[in-house]
Amino acid sequence: MTSGGGTYAVTGSASGMGAAVAESLRAEGHTVIGVDLRDADVVADLSTAAGRRAAADEVLAKAGGKLDGAVLAAGMGPSKGRERMITEVNVLGVTDLLTAWRPALAAADKAKVVVFGSNSTTVTPLVPRGAVRRLINGDTAGATRQILRRRGVTAPVAYAASKVAVTQWVRWQGTKPEWAGEGIRVNVIAPGPVMTPLLQSQLDSPQAKSVKSFPVPVREYGTPEQLAAWVMIMLSPAADFMAGTVITVDGGTEALMRTRDWPKPLPVRGMPKLLWKMYRAPKDGQVAQY
Ligand code: NAI
Repeated sequence: MTSGGGTYAVTGSASGMGAAVAESLRAEGHTVIGVDLRDADVVADLSTAAGRRAAADEVLAKAGGKLDGAVLAAGMGPSKGRERMITEVNVLGVTDLLTAWRPALAAADKAKVVVFGSNSTTVTPLVPRGAVRRLINGDTAGATRQILRRRGVTAPVAYAASKVAVTQWVRWQGTKPEWAGEGIRVNVIAPGPVMTPLLQSQLDSPQAKSVKSFPVPVREYGTPEQLAAWVMIMLSPAADFMAGTVITVDGGTEALMRTRDWPKPLPVRGMPKLLWKMYRAPKDGQVAQY
């Protein structure tokens, strides 16, 4: 449990899991600065650079320069024809805001950040690695061109690519001295199908059959409240010892489809990279020593 009186930014606060998290935080006595397209403290469109800038600045002004945490739940589902917008909201709607908010998060005592990824990161085939690399570097136009060149089911691929990119960005940035070393804990929650307007719109679309046929071992969809409960743990002191971690809450789909892929012993070819990271780790006690 978090102790009340903190200030938290929550994107996607008007609906689904973002709304459930905002409600849980308010119930524990925190101030929530909600960001969304409508019904929010900060109304902004995260699919444009200007909207993201305005959202970042307005939140900082309302928070008075100090944020105890942030939950990045705003996101678009795999809607056909909106591939570029999916990448803008799901990737830059996270990375631009967090980059702008980092000093305010560092100003708090052990701030916590939770980013919404998805189990689609590990169960969607045909996601081009180059597109993921481009997205991590902020090149949404180049990534979208590469995804659209493949034709076929481009929206689910854009969606999965956006979530792989944002998850890898968290694992890359979240373990750096500027984040983990400054007391900020950034982690990812990766839900499977959760009954929200986003999932409902997929169930109402021509893709309903493939959504319904997706294997979920527990044989039911998740609820926004269940996911919010996990996010609340990731915002609490229980997460002080967590950085760059992905928590999958998906009814078992990922475990079923990728049983033997993880965990895996470190391959020999990974050793030079690991040694390089150990060498680069600051030795001033800011981050844990290896
Ligand atoms: P939702 O559709 O209920 O809520 C998403 C919110 O994001 C909405 O309030 C929407 O207005 C906001 N949003 C969308 N585009 C925006 C923009 N351009 N600017 C500002 N706000 C914008 O969806 P849900 O299901 O609660 O999703 C939350 C997060 O969880 C998303 O990142 C989604 O990708 C992810 N997720 C959802 C799953 C599901 O089955 N529902 C599964 C895995 C991940």
